[in-house]
Amino acid sequence: FAPKILTGYSILLTAGPTREAIDPVRYISNHSSGKMGFAIAKAAADMGANVSLVSGPVNLATPAGVNRIDVTSTKDMLDAVMAEVDNHSIFIGCAAVADYRVAKVADEKIKKSSSDMQLALVRNPDILATVASHTPRPFTIGFAAETQDVERYAKDKLVRKNLDMIAANDVSSSELGFNADSNALKVIWAKGQQDLPATDKHTLAKQLLELIAEQIHILKDD
Ligand code: PMT
Repeated sequence: FAPKILTGYSILLTAGPTREAIDPVRYISNHSSGKMGFAIAKAAADMGANVSLVSGPVNLATPAGVNRIDVTSTKDMLDAVMAEVDNHSIFIGCAAVADYRVAKVADEKIKKSSSDMQLALVRNPDILATVASHTPRPFTIGFAAETQDVERYAKDKLVRKNLDMIAANDVSSSELGFNADSNALKVIWAKGQQDLPATDKHTLAKQLLELIAEQIHILKDD
């Protein structure tokens, strides 16, 4: 049983990896399983929110009551998010978005030759920063996946990407973060921060949403 503290809120959420094609059979991606984002989607729906989940390629069932939009590349994810953003008052960027894509995707399978090869990459747009600079702007929460100096890098992303909150995770161990069933978060906002110690991703998702609800209610009462 979850208290319906998010009734009346509409949450747009990204989860999973994005995948950038190299040619018709190869791609660049990362180890995100989508478990953290899907756990947040489920917990948010359980708490009464209306939830839209933009998901990269993952092997997970859609949580009950969640509106799921499947995408592959970063460009697809950006387009899906921007098509939905005006209908939502909260955005959570949990996806592990590819920072780069291949400059020219080959139409045919690239044949191997006896020499080495190089791949030219170009920067992808930043989905989270695009949402945070959109008008009207939803309450915007980002994630930060770091392997060192977690707090410093997360605070830098909070300010640089103009976020309301950031949930930082240390992804240097295989027990937590990418593809694991458990995680730990350091949640930071302008006026405070809180550590959510290691636990299963479903429990953590609820704790994160409780912090978000608290901040939104404080902002409303200001
Ligand atoms: O999916 P799981 O296996 O459960 O793993 C969960 C997780 C480790 C992927 C998740 O908890 C997490 O940390 N997600 C964010 C991963 C990430 O890409 O972090 P980052 O520090 O590189 O990016 C910072 C923020 O900017 C993120 O909110 C990201 O969604 C966003 N971003 C990044 C690049 C880009 N081009 N567009 C973005 O929106």
